[in-house]
Amino acid sequence: MSDQQLSGEVYYPSKEVIKHAHAKCDELYKFAEENLEGFWAKEAKELHWFKKWNKVLDDSEKPFYKWFTGGKTNIAYNCLDVHVETFRRNKLALIWEGENGEFRSFSYFSLRRESCKFANVLKSLGVQKGDRVTLYMGRIPELMIGMLACARIGAIHSVVYGGFSVESLHERLEDSQSKVLIVADGSYQRGKIVQLKKIADEALQRAATVESVLVVKRTGEPVNMEAGRDMWYHELMNLPIANNACNIEVMDAEDPLFILYTSGTTGKPKAILHTHGGYMVGVYSTLKYVFDIHEDDRYWCAADPGWITGHSYIVYGPLLNGATSFMYEGAPTHPYPNRWWQIIEKYGINILYTAPTAIRGLMRFGEAWPNRHDLSSLRILGSVGEPINPEAWRWYNRVIGKEKCPIMDTWWQTETGMFMITPLPCMPLKPGSGTKPFPGLQMDILDESGNPVKANEEGFLVIKTPWPAMIRTLYNDPERYVNQYWSKYPGYYLTGDSARRDEDGYYWIIGRVDDVIKVSGYRLGTAEIESALVSHSAVAEAAAIGLPHDVKGHAIYTYVILKAGFEKSEKLAEELRQHVGHEVGPIAKPESVEFVDSLPKTRSGKIMRRVLKAKALGQDPGNISTLED
Ligand code: PRX
Repeated sequence: MSDQQLSGEVYYPSKEVIKHAHAKCDELYKFAEENLEGFWAKEAKELHWFKKWNKVLDDSEKPFYKWFTGGKTNIAYNCLDVHVETFRRNKLALIWEGENGEFRSFSYFSLRRESCKFANVLKSLGVQKGDRVTLYMGRIPELMIGMLACARIGAIHSVVYGGFSVESLHERLEDSQSKVLIVADGSYQRGKIVQLKKIADEALQRAATVESVLVVKRTGEPVNMEAGRDMWYHELMNLPIANNACNIEVMDAEDPLFILYTSGTTGKPKAILHTHGGYMVGVYSTLKYVFDIHEDDRYWCAADPGWITGHSYIVYGPLLNGATSFMYEGAPTHPYPNRWWQIIEKYGINILYTAPTAIRGLMRFGEAWPNRHDLSSLRILGSVGEPINPEAWRWYNRVIGKEKCPIMDTWWQTETGMFMITPLPCMPLKPGSGTKPFPGLQMDILDESGNPVKANEEGFLVIKTPWPAMIRTLYNDPERYVNQYWSKYPGYYLTGDSARRDEDGYYWIIGRVDDVIKVSGYRLGTAEIESALVSHSAVAEAAAIGLPHDVKGHAIYTYVILKAGFEKSEKLAEELRQHVGHEVGPIAKPESVEFVDSLPKTRSGKIMRRVLKAKALGQDPGNISTLED
């Protein structure tokens, strides 16, 4: 594959990279293509099963696919216990640096101990297999410990990103009917403290199911502790109930591991459900091949565990591979724009996985910052979350990777659980393209009526073959799962993205075709922003759209119709921005709030965001025959 002649700007991998890679391109693609189930079964055999599966893929109830049915396992056992029995017992599993310079590290042995202790604490609070536990904190080790503790006892974790705010947290607590909330007192971001417990207190006033709140002390700022409900994590972990040993719950391959809320087309966020068996095999294998994890590597995924990237590739993927994972709490530019480069040099990071928005943000500060540091430990780079513009790709390749580190531009989603369109280190790269589907996967680009489009034409990206880490359903809403993903083109999974494929078969993602906006790689729904706006007493109606932004990829623009008796003013616009920040989270704060007298709607009353977008960009709005007025 590496000597294939390709069109356009192409970067061929070096002989050293190809030699070092676990993935032997030609062999791997051929094997997976000829024997999809055999390929995944081979990967699954590298992990521990208490009982082997009967069937690799069960498609008898499409689109409710099942993987490794009859198999018994537990992902936490594979992440920790398996390694503790080997030479990896004292190997570092996690290295952590706080934004304020604090440092902590955990061997596989100590990470298992902490997660066992915490699993016993959860059990003592009555948490059982299948119960939902919500976690809400910044990037700190306790988040990882909490997730692994839940997995160990078969509880379903629901992590809410620490950058979300009151209404987002409330909605997720309520929808998941969580019994327990694990929250940090606060987190450090850009030198400031975000008071997470205070936000949680407000959300808890609106959420009825939570019986216990466990508070992790991170900042030490005073917090309100409600008697009978709130308890300190460190106090519980010192009690005799927090025993060092905790039996593992033997899970069915298809038993739920976690739910993770993500934004969809309309209405409230959807709870994506992932399982112990298939998800485990998918993330293990993709991380191994794509980032070419080797025993002595130090791997850093700079995402947040509150999003799918962190679930799959900070927590589960690296631990399943027995790797050393690095986690950093804070902002890339704090206190200076060299913080990341300093970290790479200090810890000898070999693999860095981040988002285009971070690269563009750091590029703005110039090359002098990274050039002050020794980045020679880097071997492979990664990108995720949104299309990477070729200019940022080239900078990343030249200034950070010194033209020797292949860039793995991985396209995937909360729903897919694992990398789907991605290079392998043995492949030639084109800046801005994620290259091809992972071995064994078949994808296509279709027009409105379901016909494949020609080379270089834009269309809807679909997935034609099932994969082990695929979403199993929407928690509590199987009907919406079928409608959302499997109804436009029956038999095919609809990604919600548009894309094109070039003459070499390389995929180029264009962006979302639904009402999802990717802001700095974060996934937000127009509906969430609009409902936050209309929850303000001055707002009658609101519309949100995403418009291109140099650093964030897309930024949020909103249009608001005021209720009678309220006056348009700069002050009110700012108040509305702050209100969205308070309800949804700072990442959702609109770039601008524009007051309007009407909004373009269809005759059935649906806001035509496409028309607003075209108008804002000075483009032709296209077919507006369905416009009401
Ligand atoms: O639009 C695609 C974009 O992110 C969406 C999925 O968002 P989320 O579920 O939050 O997961 C993000 C991290 C996996 C996709 O539908 N996206 C993700 N990765 C890429 C991307 N767009 C272009 N290139 C990528 N590498």
